[in-house]
Amino acid sequence: MPRNFIRIDKKIKSFKKKLNVDGDKSLSIRWALIASQAIGTSKAKNLLQSEDVNNTLRCLKKLGIKISQYQNICLIEGRGINGFVFKKNITLDAGNSGTLGRLILSLLIKSPYKIKIVGDKSLSQRDFSRVIEPLKKIGVNFYPNDKSKLPIYIKGTNYLRPINYFEKRGSAQCKTCIMLASLNLPGVTKITAKNSRDHTEKMFQSLKIPIKIKKKSNYDLITLSKPKNLKKFDFDIPGDISSASFFIVLTLLSKNSKIILKNININPTRIGVIKILNMMGAKIKFQNIKIINGERCSDIEVKSINNFKSINCPTSLNSAAIDEFLIIFLVAAKANGISYFKDLSELNQKESPRLLIAAKILKLMGVKLCYNNNSIKIYGNPNLEIKKKIIVKDFLKDHRIFMMSVISALSFGGEWKIYDPISVKTSFPSFFKKIREIGGNLK
Ligand code: S3P
Repeated sequence: MPRNFIRIDKKIKSFKKKLNVDGDKSLSIRWALIASQAIGTSKAKNLLQSEDVNNTLRCLKKLGIKISQYQNICLIEGRGINGFVFKKNITLDAGNSGTLGRLILSLLIKSPYKIKIVGDKSLSQRDFSRVIEPLKKIGVNFYPNDKSKLPIYIKGTNYLRPINYFEKRGSAQCKTCIMLASLNLPGVTKITAKNSRDHTEKMFQSLKIPIKIKKKSNYDLITLSKPKNLKKFDFDIPGDISSASFFIVLTLLSKNSKIILKNININPTRIGVIKILNMMGAKIKFQNIKIINGERCSDIEVKSINNFKSINCPTSLNSAAIDEFLIIFLVAAKANGISYFKDLSELNQKESPRLLIAAKILKLMGVKLCYNNNSIKIYGNPNLEIKKKIIVKDFLKDHRIFMMSVISALSFGGEWKIYDPISVKTSFPSFFKKIREIGGNLK
């Protein structure tokens, strides 16, 4: 059996590098699901080849969709809206992916048979009532009827009705679930959605799906009608800013280092991390900005910084930085002063209860803090150095907790033993290769 931990006992030395990171996970999963509903063969370049995306492709294959992959190209032979062909009694395994588990439901709302949806230990502990409840209002059946977690059975209906849906969490998964459902709904579907990543809106627009979006300060009013069909669509997937963020923070915290991360998706709804780090004193720059498939992309230039300012983090940035808070907390741990992050209960709804686990790791690192289920105050120490042994274990194999721990070890020193390295395969399979490329010493 492969060893299920890594050891790190050396800080990373100064580096100057250009790096690519793996493709964007949100775009990869969305592209695959939507391509399965289009007519004809859609092609993606640089699709993320991670477990979450592999599980997406496996589920689509079980639903009768032909998929082929060679080098960095993926081809999906869509069969049109609701064109899935499958047998009775199938089980779809969403693995670790909340995005897949929640979004796939919306493509099954006309299914004549019960379909079982399962996930791994982490996903089976996460809330699904947030998508089950609005789908029930559309007319979809779930068994058992009162369950809010996986495993669960879904059975569709031919008597679907559109809804007015109020998405108040700032969850792109919930918003997208209803947007995808609208592909099969008669009449007009209306969504009032608290600001969150808008990749699905952009894909719908580029596919000429009837969609109107009115922007209010914190909310979008989205109106959708059922398209006749979807044409095949090709996508060039840029690098994932959530993966890039581990290297952004490692560069900021290391001495005399510089990195250029090539061709990253910098969609304005995803760059909360850059805004927050720049408010804390970083000078992160975008170079060669381009629009590809309606998505803003650029190279990101980052240089080391000696002094970080603490931050009272505006909650308006929470959704745009939701997957990056763990790594932002490491910068707060080295900032001059007390940083405060609030209204973050959603962070405990992720692959693990991230706010609580991050607080435990920060405590092990000797960082002073106050926290509850919803917020955290981090007392920064500009001279933070770790000299002791730290073991990171039992975090539900959460990929981002693992990578946060690696970045902390390489930035602050100490003797770290970090369990479940396999978790990086969920979102960032080339993580170790990239860490080694810039000189990180992992054992
Ligand atoms: C995602 C949305 C976010 C994010 C997740 C990916 C998406 O989740 O945390 O990693 O692709 O829509 P929520 O919508 O639950 O906030």
